[in-house]
Amino acid sequence: MSKKLFIETLGCAMNSRDSEHMIAELKEKEGYETTDDFKEADLILINTCSVREKPVQKLFSELGVFYKKKKEGAKIGVCGCTASHLGDEIIKRAPYVSFVLGARNVSKITEVLHKERAVEIDINYDESEFAFKDFRTSPYKGFINISIGCDKTCTFCIVPKTRGEEISIPDALIIQEAQKIVNAGAKEIFLLGQNVNNYGRRFSGEHEKVNFTELLRRLSKIEKLERIRFTSPHPFHMDDEFIEEFASNPKICKSMHMPLQSGSSKVLKDMKRGYTKEWFLNRVAKLRQECPEATISTDIIVAFPGESDEDFAQSVDVVKQVKFDQIFSFKYSPRPETEAEHFTNIVDEEVASDRLSYLQALHNEILDEKNAQQLGKTFKVYFEALNQGGFVAGRSDNNLLIKVKGSDELLGQFREVKITSIGRTILTGEILA
Ligand code: SAH
Ligand code: F3S
Repeated sequence: MSKKLFIETLGCAMNSRDSEHMIAELKEKEGYETTDDFKEADLILINTCSVREKPVQKLFSELGVFYKKKKEGAKIGVCGCTASHLGDEIIKRAPYVSFVLGARNVSKITEVLHKERAVEIDINYDESEFAFKDFRTSPYKGFINISIGCDKTCTFCIVPKTRGEEISIPDALIIQEAQKIVNAGAKEIFLLGQNVNNYGRRFSGEHEKVNFTELLRRLSKIEKLERIRFTSPHPFHMDDEFIEEFASNPKICKSMHMPLQSGSSKVLKDMKRGYTKEWFLNRVAKLRQECPEATISTDIIVAFPGESDEDFAQSVDVVKQVKFDQIFSFKYSPRPETEAEHFTNIVDEEVASDRLSYLQALHNEILDEKNAQQLGKTFKVYFEALNQGGFVAGRSDNNLLIKVKGSDELLGQFREVKITSIGRTILTGEILA
């Protein structure tokens, strides 16, 4: 009987790609098969996120549950960004954890598996570790890392500490990965990096200086590749050339993530984001001018230290002006080893909660208004998943989630769909052709 692996993946798409790589390594070298039931697993992995504090606290209670209920002899490993920043403290607090494997060390999974209490969290920039295994969770699309780490110094963010400096992956390797994904039958690739549009600024070895716009052009030459998505671009690096390529290249999906963080230029300065409210709005205007059909998503932090009512009103103002299609909003969470950890002008918890609720209610109102306008419109949908009740779901080019009545023969197919009813998170339609 094969050994069983249970893996829980938290956080961003980069973690999902890291998990795919670990699953592939464990299958290939150790004969593991994945399971959805941790109680029958021989190895339990948690691939953690450390961007906010709450998930870190939850990690230890979850580890306790795994320990109590796991199969006799099963190993537990903690991987990812919390592994990177807490290191051996994890084993001190939860001595039954077999190993700790940092976000930049996932290629060592089969090594640490055989060591007792191994803690591998060193950050290296060895290009031989950039090529991940081909295993993909979805047969319809594939994630590809295009850079690792982050060189920015956003004062709230722990990521540069857990994932290290920003290094671009050679374009030849990225194109090769994309080709493999397409050869396996998928039609969509999803490029990943903390600042994708800063691609090409620095490589680990000697490589041709290719910027993100040029990388997109090269990737779009791949025959049978139909859709290119990416996350996250940084508003600071959104130059005209990039926006124009985004608008004019038919293979690039027309949905842009523009992480605002705050609408107040003063708070943006305290966050060291490198742009102002005006610059952000100017880039949105340029994007809308070049590509009116593009949807825009964002990340907003409320109650950053020193955020006054007036500062918060600036975030509200940007939300009202831009009318984002999706907002990931968070209360500021102080993180260790960041500059803002030492800021003293903390916003009252109750004020923070009120601001978050206000922003989310406002966004829902905007969304209901926008969704109502989709009724009767037609979108080309790429079907990817079976939903309950005999539905098949997929995404439009501009990233709207759409379902139709149907079965698995639609999976991996493109269809023109007319929207017949509206929900807040998913639209329902019928197939035209
Ligand atoms: N490079 C990515 C950000 C990665 S972190 C980007 O620019 O989009 C993902 C999101 O988590 C951030 O955009 C931010 O909104 C949120 N975040 C990061 N640190 C945080 C903190 N300390 N408190 C609350 N939210 C945070
Ligand atoms: Fe974090 Fe800012 Fe980089 S949010 S990942 S330091 S761009």
